Amino acid sequence: MKILKINSSAAKSTSISRGIVDDIISKLLNKYPKAQIINRDVAYDNLPFPDNKYLEAIFHQGKLNDEQLLATQLSDKLVDEILESDILVIGAPMYNFGIAASLKAYFDLVARAGKTYKYNDQGYPVGLIENKKAYVVITTGGIPLGSPMDFSKNYITTFLYFVGIKDIEFIELDENRFKHEEKKKIANEKLEAILY
Ligand SMILES: Cc1cc2nc3c(=O)[nH]c(=O)nc-3n(C[C@H](O)[C@H](O)[C@H](O)COP(=O)(O)O)c2cc1C
Repeated sequence: MKILKINSSAAKSTSISRGIVDDIISKLLNKYPKAQIINRDVAYDNLPFPDNKYLEAIFHQGKLNDEQLLATQLSDKLVDEILESDILVIGAPMYNFGIAASLKAYFDLVARAGKTYKYNDQGYPVGLIENKKAYVVITTGGIPLGSPMDFSKNYITTFLYFVGIKDIEFIELDENRFKHEEKKKIANEKLEAILY
């Protein structure tokens, strides 16, 4: 059993999403004491954005040369990490109405044709990351999730579905500037119900 822990809050000790991610991890470890945690802190990994070298390498047909292998090395590693994990726990604070740029950079490196998704004969996308469970913690300061200004929850759902991850539990602590106690209680109750 492997659990992939992904944090994207730039905040450390004060981060609400990191705290909830840790709560989920400890509940999962109670359930699966032998689980191995893979720690992927995208806020501090300095992940690169796709560049021309990378695009040429990932869409190259046939054997890759050394330079192309180098260009895909990090993406390959991230893809292997996610494929070998059974459970994903993702911390996703809202930054300027959407997910943090670091999490988007991670998603850009994980979306790989032929590895994490493909197009079927009718041209429809088929996700290749199968049999995973994802817990996604979303935090916001003032924007209610599901409102017209929220570009994170629907985006994360769409992305995870695209790569085949459909068993998703959202733990939401939105509007925490105004309703922290109330929302924290709801989030805790949900966690107790789904991870006892
Ligand atoms: C750079 C930045 C941008 C933010 N943008 C938004 C926003 O667009 N809407 C919102 O409701 N909260 C916004 N916030 C508030 C955070 O979503 C909120 O503080 C949340 O708790 C952050 O997650 P964390 O506590 O895990 O770091 C922003 C915070 C930062 C640091």
